[in-house]
Formats: sequence, C-alpha cells, structure tokens
Amino acid sequence: FHYTTLYLKMIGEIMKEWTREERYRPLDKKDVPMLKELHEKIKTSIWRCQFHVQTVTGLLGDTNGFSWFNGKWHLFYQWFPYGGVHGLKHWYHVESTDLVHWKNKGVGVIADGPHDDHGAFSGSGFVENDILYLPYTGNHRDENWVRYPRQLLAYMTKDGVFHKQEKPLYGNIEGYSEHQRDPKMFYRPEDGYYYFMLGVQNLEKKGKFLLMRSESITEGWQVYGEMKIRGYEDFGFMVECPALEKMGDKWLLVFSPQGLQPQGDDFQNIYNNTYFIGDMDFENIEFIPDGPFKELDHGFDFYAAQCAHQDQFKDKAVLDAWFGISDMEYLPTVEQGYSGLQTMPRLLSIEGGKLKQRPVSATQELKGDIIEQSKEEFVLEQMPRACVIEIKGNDSDFMLDLFKHEKHSGFVITYNQESQTLIIDRGDLENPINADYGTTRKLHLENGLQECTIFVDHSSVEMFINDGEYVSSSRIFPTLEEKQMVSTGNGNEVIVYQAKRTVEDDFIIYPEQ
Ligand code: FRU
Repeated sequence: FHYTTLYLKMIGEIMKEWTREERYRPLDKKDVPMLKELHEKIKTSIWRCQFHVQTVTGLLGDTNGFSWFNGKWHLFYQWFPYGGVHGLKHWYHVESTDLVHWKNKGVGVIADGPHDDHGAFSGSGFVENDILYLPYTGNHRDENWVRYPRQLLAYMTKDGVFHKQEKPLYGNIEGYSEHQRDPKMFYRPEDGYYYFMLGVQNLEKKGKFLLMRSESITEGWQVYGEMKIRGYEDFGFMVECPALEKMGDKWLLVFSPQGLQPQGDDFQNIYNNTYFIGDMDFENIEFIPDGPFKELDHGFDFYAAQCAHQDQFKDKAVLDAWFGISDMEYLPTVEQGYSGLQTMPRLLSIEGGKLKQRPVSATQELKGDIIEQSKEEFVLEQMPRACVIEIKGNDSDFMLDLFKHEKHSGFVITYNQESQTLIIDRGDLENPINADYGTTRKLHLENGLQECTIFVDHSSVEMFINDGEYVSSSRIFPTLEEKQMVSTGNGNEVIVYQAKRTVEDDFIIYPEQ
C-alpha cells in the first residue's frame, strides 16, 4: 500500500492538518517497520525522558487500567500510534514492580471491534480470580459520524494475553448526550454489587456522575442512578474520568471536570483535575463532602488521574495521571511525531482530614551522584537535564531558575515568605506552551515552605511540597542553550542529584514481536 503522505507527516516533514482518514487509521502489523523508523527518530529528541512513562510513538493520553495484578503494577495509557495528535486510541501497556522502573510491553487493548472502531476510550482495572478485568468505553461512530458510546470489557489473563468480551456490558444510556464514558470499577462487599462510575453529560449539557451496578462483572449491568453531591451542582459541561476510592473510613472522589471558571489563583488550566473527601450514601446515591473540591495538582499539565486497583497499601491510594490536558498543544514534540507522558505515581493518604500526596518510596532510587549541595547562591553552567532537587527550607525567600539561558530566565520557581506564595513561571522559555492560559501559576502555602523535592526529567518538572501537602506538575521544552541552573537560597539548603534512568526507551508494539 501507499503511505508516503502519512509517513512524511509522522516524521514531521509535513505539518499540515491530519485528515480524518489518517487519524482513524486502524493499527496494522504491516506498519511496524514504519513505526520503528518513527521511534528511531523520536529517540533522538532532547525531550525524551528517563524516569517517566512516555509514549512509544504518537500520542499518549489518560491513565487506564492501573492495577496491581499477578505480582506487578500494570498501567495502560490512551495511545494513538501514528503521530502526536489525537486519533484512534488504543491502550498501550507498561509494567513495573516498584512504580519507578517501567517496561514497555506493547499494545494491550486494540480498538478493532464493532463497538470500539473509533477508539478504545478510557477505563479501569479490576482484579478477581487471576484475571485483570479492563472495563472501558468503546467509541463507535456511524457513517454520518454520529457517536455511540458503549461500555465494554477486555481482560488480561495471567499469561499476559488480552481478550475482549464480544457483548458490551452496556449500550447507550438514555437521557444523556453522546458523552458517557470512563468506567471505574469497584466492588462493595456490604451489598455484594460490582459498581462502576461513569462521567456523563445530561441533555442540558451539564457534567454528571452516573453509577452502574451488577452482581456479575461480565453481565447484568443496570443504571443505578445519578450520583448527587450534597451542596454542589455545577461541574461544568462534562465530568471525565470520575472515580470513588475508599481510603480508610472515608471516600475520595477524583474527577476531571470541564468548563469550570477560574477562581482566584485556582482552576487556571483549561480543564481541571479535582477531588472531594467525604462519605458516600449508597442508598440515596449521594456523596457528602467534608469540604470544597480542590485541585489535585497546581501546575500547568495534569489531567485524567486514576487510582490503581490494588491491595499493596492499606487505606492508601496510588494515583497516576496524564502529564497533559486535552485541547492543549505540546507542539515541540508533536512536530517530532510524539506527545505525552504519564506523571510520576503518587501515594495518597488522608491525614487529619487532608489529602497527602507523596512520591512512592522507590523514587529514592532515582538519586545518583550529588552535583551540588549548598546553602548559598550557586550557578550551574550546565545543569543535568534530569535531576532530583531537594530543598530543605526554613520558610525564607527563595528562587530557583531551571534551564536558564544566558540572556533570559528559564523555568522559574519563586517563593515569597511574606505572602507565603509560591510562583512558577515558564513564560521566558524559548518554546512557549499554551501561553493563552497564562504562563504563571500561583500557590498559597498555608504552612509556608518547609521543604520541597523537585523532579526534573528533560521536559518535565514535578514539585512535591511540604511532605505531600501540594504537588505541582509542568511540562517544558527547553532548548540546548537553555542549560543553567541558578539558585538564590536564603538559608535554604539545596541538594542537586543527578537522576538515574529507570525507563528504557525501547520499541515494542506487539508483545510477541
Ligand atoms: C479524557 C478523555 C476521556 C476519554 C479519553 C479519550 O482525556 O477525553 O474522557 O475516555 O480521553 O481518549
């Protein structure tokens, strides 16, 4: 067959619009050599990471099917193979034993059936009887491009083989628009039902939470009802990837609302990723929050987070997310044929009624040689492009400039003690990123700046502040001339470690390849 135009587009030789046909090209084994060539080129990109799950080729999106199964962590991501643009999504599979070292495994759920021919959209993982169940949304469109969302079931057996159940778990749900998706499954021993929560849009174009339930994973699913949230009505025009997670005696409700207005310094991103802590009344299908919903992350790029189905951490949750947001452009890498990362997984707990989000313990292993350790100002002429930076604060003014150019600033982190405000600014970097949504984010630190660990990985900066009180995740695309690190500590001790590699950039599309 003929793939010249597509091929040139893939390798970034032509940047014109992707046609619908190109975006919805089914995954084809015959394309492996072409994808391999694309990967060879992508591998040389200066923005490839060394300790983040990153797309093998093309576009990476939401976290899917995240679970502990058969002695390993399994994670999938929404994947369009042929370019860094949104198109026909499959699930790509990666595996880990410690949530820090990850292995590429190949495509998991392939969108090739009658119900998911326009995408195997997001879904979750649920383990029972040596099977990893993967409920997800099949995106089907007819010849007039009318969308029919259906809830489907795939599963992985212990031998690592993927299967798809032919019969949908549920067809189109009446009373809602075409936007009904992202099943997150859980089991409730109190009543013996399996549940999944869906994000839906009602006919007035409002985002809602819908609970489905059944006594069997594979059949008998019914609409249980729309979940109300006491005291709250407005979640914008759509709620994506909603999930209930039991943590001790509380419930965590994680969701990605679309169409909320900014409030002061908060909710500045185009779409947000938020949470409530509260109680769940399953009889009346009502969530009773303990307080207002808050952002999970205070950086520029964080969306569609999912908690793992797991039994490794009691009363805690393990969360991962797409290090990006839909409708945002990550152009520098899109031009190179790829886009997207997963964030670093976080360990969540509720302490004193507050959500804490900490890096998992194996992130300690990322730390290599110490490059710098100082309580004074310092300049590194050539900062490591992947590093771990620890700031042991004493709540005083502080400034750290990463990937600074001789002539202008890079990614600047400033803390002002008087106002207890932390500001991140990516506006001076040579490659602008979604500047329409602002180039700074401001965060008020209720307890001042006690300490902070910053993970820098070639094109990403994640900050964990005050032992899990706040997290801030941002993508950046520094050029090779943007290479200095400048710190003006004021009694804060700063330690910079070279970061090790925990993710190989290897090419694998079909597991048996
Ligand atoms: C969120 C989302 C989901 C959907 C998936 C499609 O980013 O829009 O609601 O299932 O992405 O890729």
